[in-house]
Amino acid sequence: MSKKVVVTGGAGFIGHILIKYILDNTDWEVISLDRLDYSGNLNRFSHMLKDYPEKEKTRLQIIYHDLKSEINNLLDGKIKDAEIVFHLAASSHVDRSIVDPLTFVEDNVLATANLLNYARFMDNLELLAYFSTDEVFGPAKPGQSFLEWDRYNSTNPYSAAKAGGEELAIAFENTYGLPIVISHCMNVYGERQHPEKYIPNTLWKLKNNKKITIHASKDKSTPGSRHYIYSEDVANSVMFITENFEKLKKMQFPIDDIGPKCLKVNIPGTKELDNLEVAKLISEFSGFSLDYELVDFHSSRPGHDLRYAIDGTFIRKAGWEPNYTVEDSLEKLVKWYLENPEWLEF
Ligand SMILES: NC(=O)c1ccc[n+]([C@@H]2O[C@H](COP(=O)([O-])OP(=O)(O)OC[C@H]3O[C@@H](n4cnc5c(N)ncnc54)[C@H](O)[C@@H]3O)[C@@H](O)[C@H]2O)c1
Repeated sequence: MSKKVVVTGGAGFIGHILIKYILDNTDWEVISLDRLDYSGNLNRFSHMLKDYPEKEKTRLQIIYHDLKSEINNLLDGKIKDAEIVFHLAASSHVDRSIVDPLTFVEDNVLATANLLNYARFMDNLELLAYFSTDEVFGPAKPGQSFLEWDRYNSTNPYSAAKAGGEELAIAFENTYGLPIVISHCMNVYGERQHPEKYIPNTLWKLKNNKKITIHASKDKSTPGSRHYIYSEDVANSVMFITENFEKLKKMQFPIDDIGPKCLKVNIPGTKELDNLEVAKLISEFSGFSLDYELVDFHSSRPGHDLRYAIDGTFIRKAGWEPNYTVEDSLEKLVKWYLENPEWLEF
């Protein structure tokens, strides 16, 4: 059945891919709600939709709104009857959070509170999906990976503000009975990502014969690593969670003895790669040669961790698996960037 859904942060990197996935795989009407800052870019929509028939394009409505403000009457008239809210809007660039932490508190905590408070009065709300990060768990030791309900240990203002938003979401489910899911996602890569992020930035540097700086351990022997997942697989996992919300809740909380609990789902990376392995793959797929040096970045820059990791057993047990291997999706992505080089430029 057709639905109306709101994607906050829809003009951002993951938001626009989620919208594309919804347009391609459902007949839902989508409202993108975004304040269009340095990382929210309307050109993503025009580029992504350029070959879509006019009728399909009209399923997407784009609304400018900064969630730091309460939702006004005009916006209320457009979104009050939506069934699903995917809340992706956030200040998301860790480096920037270290320079300007309060902006992150406003965008990730206050703005989330405004949205949650508004959601209490929505007419048909079936699900509010809060999109969080593996970084709330802090650094993982080699071999360690965190489960959904493990303790948090934020090491930078970005992850602390995301964790703050999560706790508010849990409180709003417990207090007001809102239907909420919190997902934790790992490092995402894909088309039209902000060019300052590692994968597009590495390709840009290789293409322009610049040396790549690889963040590594103190003694410069071990490059930092991340679990990577392709953006289309993230969109697909979010849809899986949406479609299986009730089933997942029953799996996570089989005994309802202490009242409402909030579903949390880890969306695991497809593969752990260190920064040097990623750079080598980009070099192999692009044909550009790689010049690099390992640097001890983490001890000179607080707030950066060598390794993050979450455990994906729960969602896998429920039946979700990514469609792409990292190698296949990265090869496809490098080819896409080389055909669309404007997306590598700042
Ligand atoms: N990219 C990743 O690897 C990753 C990994 C885990 C979790 N996440 C989470 O996923 C979500 C999306 O990440 P992304 O990489 O697409 O980020 P992004 O920075 O590309 O997009 C965020 C969007 O939110 C908008 N926004 C920010 N503050 C706003 C506000 N106050 N009101 C309205 N709009 C606002 C921005 O304009 C931007 O379009 C974020 O919540 C992020 O924390 C991202």
